[in-house]
Amino acid sequence: SDQTYDYDVLVIGAGPGGYVAAIRAAQLGLRTACAESRETLGGTCLNVGCIPSKALLHASEYFEAAAGKTMARMGIKVTPELDLDTMQGQRKDAVKGLTGGIEFLFKKNKVTWLKNHASFVDAHTLKVGDETVTAKNIVIATGSSVTPLPGVEVDNEKGVVVDSTGALELSAVPKKMVVIGGGVIGLELGSVWRRLGAEVTVVEYLDQLLPGMDGDIRKEAGKIFKKQGMELKLKTKVTGVTVKGKKATLTVEPADGGDSETITADCVLVSIGRKPNTDGLGLDAIGLETNARGQIETDHSFRTKVDGVWAIGDVIPGPMLAHKAEDEGLAVAENIAGQTGIVNHDVIPSVVYTMPEFAGVGLTEEAAKEKGAVKVGKFPMLANSRAKTNHEPDGFVKVISDAETDRVLGVWMIASVAGTMIAQAAQAMEFGATSEDIAYTCHAHPTHSEALKEAAMAVQGKPIHI
Ligand code: FAD
Ligand code: NAI
Repeated sequence: SDQTYDYDVLVIGAGPGGYVAAIRAAQLGLRTACAESRETLGGTCLNVGCIPSKALLHASEYFEAAAGKTMARMGIKVTPELDLDTMQGQRKDAVKGLTGGIEFLFKKNKVTWLKNHASFVDAHTLKVGDETVTAKNIVIATGSSVTPLPGVEVDNEKGVVVDSTGALELSAVPKKMVVIGGGVIGLELGSVWRRLGAEVTVVEYLDQLLPGMDGDIRKEAGKIFKKQGMELKLKTKVTGVTVKGKKATLTVEPADGGDSETITADCVLVSIGRKPNTDGLGLDAIGLETNARGQIETDHSFRTKVDGVWAIGDVIPGPMLAHKAEDEGLAVAENIAGQTGIVNHDVIPSVVYTMPEFAGVGLTEEAAKEKGAVKVGKFPMLANSRAKTNHEPDGFVKVISDAETDRVLGVWMIASVAGTMIAQAAQAMEFGATSEDIAYTCHAHPTHSEALKEAAMAVQGKPIHI
């Protein structure tokens, strides 16, 4: 290692991208530090993202199963009582446990945590709080934060107009909640509060929910969330929100123009996307520019245009997902150590953790068709013995393969455990599988995963159970 620098690797940000990069760099024998200004490690994902949202999704799912028909249908009659403090307590415990776990891993692997905000002095020097620290390699893993909606002021403390962080921390169930943006955050957190008793309206600018997902999935998502009791206002934009005391009034109008109307709510969740964190990082000092979307561009090894400076995770192009950031974290550390770290950006699964779950990997049918002829096989969860037995009839699995080679191009699914099932599809695609390979793989019975096998058989034209 090069002793002219304080460290071989200095990572900025300890989210899933940064903490993984730091640990792997240390494992590879590099002297590593990680600057993180937050009180706890783990970034957005562990503190205010993936983990706390899943804690509330899991708990609220049980509540709804008890309050609604799901448990009664199986002969379990209960009248649940909501203890929101305890539910929020177990969310905080989950976060505390996991962020503490990363601190333990830093110690175990001898990664130094510099507990302060970092900014560039030059390409090998950072100002971290009052300290000046040098490193041969610097990895930018600063993540992303909420995109503000012009004219709408978020105040998480007050809890009337909130972003995802505020929506995780509500201390009472709002009577009426309006979600601005029918994407992943809006649907996950909207579902949490709907299950706990809020009346939820989702206002979405586009004509369908969940942009980026396969067309069939998006259409079905609209039907499922409506059936669950969410009101959907598609092709609608919010032009303003005013707050008086504990009430908000939203002005909305059709996306392509027309008469406006007002909606009142006790809580408004702004979830219209996230933007890369580069403010206050001093990129000017090293002559590094961001692209039109505010992202830092890199090559396939995650090198930026500036020698010795690398970038990964939400701050670079690609889906803003924790597992994408983690894999880039591994790869960047391996590249810095002189190995060959690669991320296959064509095979990154995405999951919406509602009930049922929505998941996909690879190309949508629409995108695949633009590239050439495809074969498509679909299988409904209603015809899957396990899903049917478990009273989970919603959803389907869809396999898209190349018409000529049969190589799998994309897999999309809606199922209670789609987030777990999608791993198999990702693995198959990573191995260059054909739909026939999946169709002739023995799947355990009775499992939800058999629906993937049958969808692959449907590509071949011969499923058994439909
Ligand atoms: P981040 O996790 O954002 O971490 C960046 C860290 O850098 C932060 O802790 C920040 O404090 C620190 N930092 C920034 N600038 C500086 C600086 N100059 N000096 C020092 N420190 C700095 N993704 C999934 O895959 N699955 C999910 O279920 C999921 N759920 C989500 C739910 C919500 C509500 C939200 C908001 C996001 C969710 N995401 C989910 C997205 C996921 O959180 C991000 O993709 C992921 O955290 C990105 O990792 P990252 O390491 O790039 O950045
Ligand atoms: P998103 O991009 O998923 O959805 C935003 C939605 O808001 C889009 O449907 C968009 O059309 C709509 N929109 C934009 N402007 C609008 C306006 N003015 N009025 C009405 N609608 C408008 O963004 P979201 O939900 O904020 O999540 C941010 C990111 O966080 C996601 O892209 C995802 O990468 C990550 N995330 C991932 C999760 C997961 O993997 N399960 C869970 C939560 C977040």
